[in-house]
Amino acid sequence: MSQALQEARIFEKRHGSAIPDRDRPLFHLTPWIGWMNDPNGFSWYQGQYHMFYQYHPYDSHWGPMHWGHAVSRDLLHWEFLPCALAPDMPYDKDGCFSGSAVELSDGRQLLMYTGVRHETTPDGQVREVQTQCLAFGDGLNYEKYTGNPILTEADLPTGGSRFDFRDPKILKLPDGTFRALIANNRLGEGGQILQYRSVDAIHWSLVGPLAENHNRIGLMWECPDFFRLDGYDVLLASAQDMLPKGFEYHNGNGTFYLLGHCDDDTGVFTEESDHAVDYGIDFYAPQTVLTPDGRRVMIGWMQNWDTCNLHTRWVPWFGQMSLPRELSVRNGILYQTPVRELEALRGEAVRHEQVRIENSEIRLPGVHGRTVDLELEIEPEGPLFNRFAIRFAQNELYHTTVSFRPHESVLKIDRKFSGSRRAIIHQRRAKVRHDGGRLKLRLILDRFSAEVFVNDGEQVLSATVSTDLSAEGISFFADGAVRINVLSYQLGG
Ligand code: FRU
Repeated sequence: MSQALQEARIFEKRHGSAIPDRDRPLFHLTPWIGWMNDPNGFSWYQGQYHMFYQYHPYDSHWGPMHWGHAVSRDLLHWEFLPCALAPDMPYDKDGCFSGSAVELSDGRQLLMYTGVRHETTPDGQVREVQTQCLAFGDGLNYEKYTGNPILTEADLPTGGSRFDFRDPKILKLPDGTFRALIANNRLGEGGQILQYRSVDAIHWSLVGPLAENHNRIGLMWECPDFFRLDGYDVLLASAQDMLPKGFEYHNGNGTFYLLGHCDDDTGVFTEESDHAVDYGIDFYAPQTVLTPDGRRVMIGWMQNWDTCNLHTRWVPWFGQMSLPRELSVRNGILYQTPVRELEALRGEAVRHEQVRIENSEIRLPGVHGRTVDLELEIEPEGPLFNRFAIRFAQNELYHTTVSFRPHESVLKIDRKFSGSRRAIIHQRRAKVRHDGGRLKLRLILDRFSAEVFVNDGEQVLSATVSTDLSAEGISFFADGAVRINVLSYQLGG
């Protein structure tokens, strides 16, 4: 084991284990210590889910990337395992960037990741040269392949940049061969997702681009994933430098999906539509796994590159994963619902039916807290109301709000009053579908985050919330008159 890996393992064990559980979310994965970004190598291997993550153990800000590692049986209770990869080879000395994992037929787990090495160009700029690398392991320890890197600029199509060639997602096909989808920047055109094929997962050849940006959704694309679901082929990718289009793509850097059909023989993907994956503030770079019982489950990094570097330097951990979300395609839309394992964390149900609210703010007995699963049905009472809001993480000073304006069909999440002392992005709005003011929401709170599932998962809005945990109030407000049904559970265990 290299000295860099050994040091990271000693450091995380000493300092990560000292962070009390109550200072982390209850069921969202955080880094053992320091900084976390993208999910990597999300997979099912030897009877458990493995999640690796972009990791800088020594600081709560981004730095030379390692791969952190955690395992879980239910996607909610995670156990930290020792750091899996450190930037310790000439070809990855400046970072082990994002990648994926697959089980080989001999039982080993293969990690495919991007090695980064700095190069000074003739005009004096320091650029990242990005190549693809492999590591073989047993679910705990990983050996980098002696033939690394296995894909370099020599494997790029004409016009593809060697400085933006990253985030391989390796797929095992039913015939036992492999595909890898890799993000690349084609000069002047923005991102493209390149497809490579291999028989042994070591020797790879270019098939061609699976999808091309032509500068329509942001510029560079990152972190692809690709799967078949409910009769569609779904490509997930995360775009940098997006321009908003109507109510889509407001996050600057954000994740989108392309829905379409891929021809198995030619590998040609015909797109039908594109949409944002999450309409909130914090969601990026998701990966999916196929569960043993056949569900497609997605986890993203619940942060935003535009704001993630503005926290104070002393936080012991920074960055968390989203809730695992079960995916399905209905009516040409990618639906997301909280993974059903979450139901096992529910305490006693608290039910309030047909509660009338008119031009006031109310609280409901038993509905409060920061680890909550709350289902809410809103309907108008008489003339259509102007605004309905649910406030949470609330005390005399602070609150975060999800508000609905039916006349505009707009749902907004707003954490301006959450106690943040930074003028970062605090709001996002989504155009939602409702039936004359009737709307269904499910709100999941886990200490430092809120995820709002709209109309049984048709849309999701996610945001981190740093409010002190003593702010536990939840209240309901109406400008006009509404009736609501509330079903709420404390989450525990
Ligand atoms: C996306 C990303 C990836 C890269 C990684 C580096 O969030 O920029 O493209 O591999 O983060 O940490």
